[in-house]
Amino acid sequence: MNRAPGGWPMGRDDCPIPHGTFVLLRDAIARRTGVFFDDAKCSVLADKLSELVSANGFSSFLDYYYLLQYDAAADLHWGALMDRLAVPETYFWRQPEQFRAVADFVAPAHFASFPGRPLRIWSAACCSGEEPISLAIALAEVGLMDPERIEIRATDASEALLDRARAGIYGQRSFRQMPVHLKARYFEQIGDDRWRVAPSVHRPIRWSRANLASPPDVARYAACDVIFCRNVFIYFNDDSIRETARLFSEYLSPDGFLFVGASESLTRFGLELELSEVAGAFVYVKLGRRQIVERAAAHKASKPPMSAIQRAAS
Ligand SMILES: C[S@@+](CC[C@H](N)C(=O)[O-])C[C@H]1O[C@@H](n2cnc3c(N)ncnc32)[C@H](O)[C@@H]1O
Repeated sequence: MNRAPGGWPMGRDDCPIPHGTFVLLRDAIARRTGVFFDDAKCSVLADKLSELVSANGFSSFLDYYYLLQYDAAADLHWGALMDRLAVPETYFWRQPEQFRAVADFVAPAHFASFPGRPLRIWSAACCSGEEPISLAIALAEVGLMDPERIEIRATDASEALLDRARAGIYGQRSFRQMPVHLKARYFEQIGDDRWRVAPSVHRPIRWSRANLASPPDVARYAACDVIFCRNVFIYFNDDSIRETARLFSEYLSPDGFLFVGASESLTRFGLELELSEVAGAFVYVKLGRRQIVERAAAHKASKPPMSAIQRAAS
């Protein structure tokens, strides 16, 4: 049998985590964070965990698993683990049609229907802040970024990334898609490869930690008009996506909007959300009661009638 450096048996395909321990860790991580590692990603998980295992004085992944499960400071250890699991891949003006849809259509329609009621937007996996800042810029460009009228809450599970978001200082990689005139208008160069975001589009954003796999966390933020939850479900398994998206649809305000990433689809989950197009952007719209009844009726009508034999068997 192969052995990992600490003398522990190697897992499958030379993954340094023994398979039984991998399953324990993988399932605990999926339950706690939604992030799922299939068998093929065992080595990726080992890579992310090995520093934490040794930093806590262990030579085995199983001891680290027990630490996460039973230590009095387990919450702190989960926080450190979340910082390691986070994939900090984001940039300004990513899928800009979604920001434009909010600025050009969703926000004006909201103010026309509910004058005096602020538009509440939640950026639910905001990473280092590029997404909610892009939203604030899009709204500023159409003269709507008034903190009295627009509330932007930005959350992430990683406190380390939130610290970066709060600092509001970015390197060139974050601007790879941003039109130069917007960069010039909303950022000030403060070093060779460092730009600071303008307070007008940074200060109004409220940053906090929230875990999308925690129903109380989702309930706290999802009662809003627009949710951006982009490029995080790609790391979740179906059960976690279904549960988080179900909570979104439950708490989102009537006729609220949910934007997900380009490669993420929720249609297979049968949620009370309808995929629509708003000015070239695809968005899930919460179904009102009338639409739910209509959709159920259309579904029933599209099914062939049951035969007497099927009825007897059902
Ligand atoms: C690839 S980034 C996406 C950032 C941004 N939404 C975008 O589309 O550019 C994924 C983010 O999801 C966050 N994340 C992963 N699991 C999470 C969870 N359970 N709750 C909240 N955020 C989570 C990570 O910390 C990371 O910042």
